Amino acid sequence: MRYRKLGSSDLVVSEIALGSWLTYGVGVETERSRACLERAFELGINFIDTANVYGRGAAEEFLGAELAGRDRASYVLATKLFFPMSDTDRGLSRGQVLKQIDASLARLRTDYVDLYQCHRYDRETPLEETMEALTEVVRAGKARYIGFSDWNAEQIQAALDLPGVEKFVSSQPQYSLLWRRPEREIFDLCRRNGISQIVYSPLAQGVLTGKYRPGERPGADTRAASDEMGWAMGKFLSDRVLEGVERLRPIADGLGLTLAQLSLAWILREENVASAIVGASRPEQVEANASASGIELDDATLAAVDEALAASTLS
Ligand SMILES: NC(=O)c1ccc[n+]([C@@H]2O[C@H](COP(=O)([O-])OP(=O)(O)OC[C@H]3O[C@@H](n4cnc5c(N)ncnc54)[C@H](OP(=O)(O)O)[C@@H]3O)[C@@H](O)[C@H]2O)c1
Repeated sequence: MRYRKLGSSDLVVSEIALGSWLTYGVGVETERSRACLERAFELGINFIDTANVYGRGAAEEFLGAELAGRDRASYVLATKLFFPMSDTDRGLSRGQVLKQIDASLARLRTDYVDLYQCHRYDRETPLEETMEALTEVVRAGKARYIGFSDWNAEQIQAALDLPGVEKFVSSQPQYSLLWRRPEREIFDLCRRNGISQIVYSPLAQGVLTGKYRPGERPGADTRAASDEMGWAMGKFLSDRVLEGVERLRPIADGLGLTLAQLSLAWILREENVASAIVGASRPEQVEANASASGIELDDATLAAVDEALAASTLS
């Protein structure tokens, strides 16, 4: 496993991180979830991403229980807040930031997270209030660094312009061969300001592994076939998209790579990316994905990939 520095922080994270949306504490049974986490650590993955809202606390509770016996300094733990935890608990007000960090730390059974992320931008709270509250959290030692997920360039710049508050070190956008939107204005702004990308859904929820074929029903044991986990996959399952993924297959074969390796290595070609946060429902997937770290793609491959997906990339 290779490692990269996270923005201007002193955190060093594995190029492949393990996420916990929909899976741990929710759609994947505990034994299998535990096996995924164990395998991740064995393979050198040191970066774990979660959020308070994943299973409304269940993902954090699973991780808290599993990480309890592990040397706290041996892994980098990231969580998030913003989405509703109850009818009244949501957003990024000072009250919520202070309440949600304590609730996350209790579930995660730790005194601090390495990275505390705003899961989205809160248009109902003044940005100054959010940034000052996050600064309080950092200065109280409850989070080492702060980040955001899916903020636009204007929102990021506004936060950077505020004096006397902690600076963001990470950006968590959706980014994959099928979803390239953040390349346009987020990467450059972040690069210039000590912010790394830690990208989510790098395999388009499994579609970029090639396991879904155009015109065929998803296999029974897949996220797309699961009522609990498949609800956000629709956009990736059209024939237009799946035919594009099929055009990647000969490129991967020609290089002796799996489609998952090709897709993850493509993300890691971008130096502003510190880590690709993968999900995994079984330990073999963790292995398959971790093996992408260290694979370098040449310019001819990158051009072939662009051509294969010209008509299939969604954004
Ligand atoms: N900030 C945000 O708003 C946000 C949003 C989404 C996700 N995230 C973070 O990013 C993480 C990853 O997101 P994601 O789950 O969408 O990522 P992903 O890696 O694109 O998809 C993960 C799913 O694809 C399948 N898969 C993964 N590797 C595979 C392999 N080698 N072969 C076959 N199938 C494979 C598995 O599902 P099945 O086995 O069930 O088919 C797995 O659960 C999340 O856990 C979360 O931490 C953040």
